Amino acid sequence: MDISRLAQRLAEAGQSHLLQFWDQLSPEEQAELAFELESMDFKEINCFFKHAMEASGQTKQEKVDARMEPVPREVLGSVTRDRESLKDWEEEGLRCISQSKVAVLLLAGGQGTRLGVSYPKGMYDVGLPSHKTLFQIQAERILKLEQLAEQHHATKCCIPWYIMTSGRTMDSTKEFFSKHKYFGLKEENVIFFQQGMLPAMDYNGTIILEGKGKLAMAPDGNGGLYRSLGAHKIVEDMERRGIAYIHVYCVDNILVKVADPAFVGFCVRKGADCGAKVVEKTNPTEAVGVVCKVDGRYQVVEYSEITLATAEKRSTDGRLMFNAGNVANHFFSLPFLKDVVNTHEPQLQHHVAQKKIPYVDTQGQLIKPDKPNGIKMEKFVFDIFQFAKNFVVYEVLREDEFSPLKNADSQDGKDNPTTARHALMSLHHRWILNAGGHFIDENGTRVPAIPSLKDGTDLPIKCEISPLVSYGGEGLEKLVNGREFHAALVIDTRGIHEHVKNGL
Ligand code: UTP
Repeated sequence: MDISRLAQRLAEAGQSHLLQFWDQLSPEEQAELAFELESMDFKEINCFFKHAMEASGQTKQEKVDARMEPVPREVLGSVTRDRESLKDWEEEGLRCISQSKVAVLLLAGGQGTRLGVSYPKGMYDVGLPSHKTLFQIQAERILKLEQLAEQHHATKCCIPWYIMTSGRTMDSTKEFFSKHKYFGLKEENVIFFQQGMLPAMDYNGTIILEGKGKLAMAPDGNGGLYRSLGAHKIVEDMERRGIAYIHVYCVDNILVKVADPAFVGFCVRKGADCGAKVVEKTNPTEAVGVVCKVDGRYQVVEYSEITLATAEKRSTDGRLMFNAGNVANHFFSLPFLKDVVNTHEPQLQHHVAQKKIPYVDTQGQLIKPDKPNGIKMEKFVFDIFQFAKNFVVYEVLREDEFSPLKNADSQDGKDNPTTARHALMSLHHRWILNAGGHFIDENGTRVPAIPSLKDGTDLPIKCEISPLVSYGGEGLEKLVNGREFHAALVIDTRGIHEHVKNGL
């Protein structure tokens, strides 16, 4: 194979070392490496590196406190503070859904390194009685919402589901959906597309080799969305289908209200081009990004970018002043998304994430570093808030809508399979109580509404309601009102299943 042209390009880009083991590779490995290198734009990658490092140097030095303003009340909708408007918003959202104007877009291209499984996170089973995966729960919520919108407006409708995967997750994600017959959705309404990948680099901008013939590649962050929407002509597909509004969310939130009609309806009523769902940040030191204005434009400010004094500031009502905790759950109008993809995307900077990146040394030995030795470059999905002309914020309750799966189970762990499972079952437990049902223990005694949870024990009530039965707690009265249930309860389309002991 003649690689002189490729070698020349690499030399010009200062990346000649990528061919250092060329002679030791088999012909197949050579072909694969050459194919990968041919498709890469090294000038662009070097440019990304330079700008990302410059921007990261600036962020480290300069705190943004003095330039920050909280979200003004007039652009804020809240499920607790605006109760009287909720029904209205929900109806508006359902109307849009019934007209097939709403699509959902799932960000599922991450590597799930902290969870530590070799397959896509959406395929994870957190151990619910039904053993449903995150993908199945989301698919069933879409199905149910279509049904609700159809019932309300006596018309057929569809919520297309766009799923962004990465080079590492595409094949297994598609296979999983196909094996499970798209969980009852129509295959043509589940649209997969792949985000871009970028090489990991050391601090000098040298691309890291993870094998003699293999570059260390990683997805380019969930903000890689916008470039890949353009590359795969997804906006055009949305236009063809008559989509007007898009709900974007992350795969790992077990409580996610996919295409949430109230959120969509609120954004539509406000005439918003871009909206963010948030949960209240109550602890000043919680490491969550907050939605706020900086120099008059909306953005997410990370905890590390502000001083403790600013994080601790409170408003007259006693709440933290910067309390709009970002949960990566967004609304976009189609014209806004189109503008971002066609015009603004190239202006977005990559952020730098320092990582421990396994590499081969000059002898070809694989080294696993124990401290960060390089960077991955990522864009973030919320980087585009700055381009919005009419930005709104919608505050929801954390216990109803946000429980992300990030880590593997461990003692006293946070955001892991146990916390996700508990969050879902405790939400469903509350739905039963709100619908007039009660739980009794093995002796027939009613379990208090707020059962005491002893350290290290599982939930005293195990309750799971299929999304195919209820999307958000609705429609349960006729099934449970005035009835008593044992501590383990599953309600699905086949009926009500109970166990005396909570060992379903
Ligand atoms: P995280 O930033 O939590 O990353 O992603 P992750 O891949 O799930 O987990 P770690 O950090 O490797 O442990 C938040 C959301 O953004 C998506 C993820 O799939 C998840 O839904 N994401 C992340 C992408 O779609 N692409 C990316 O490049 C990164």
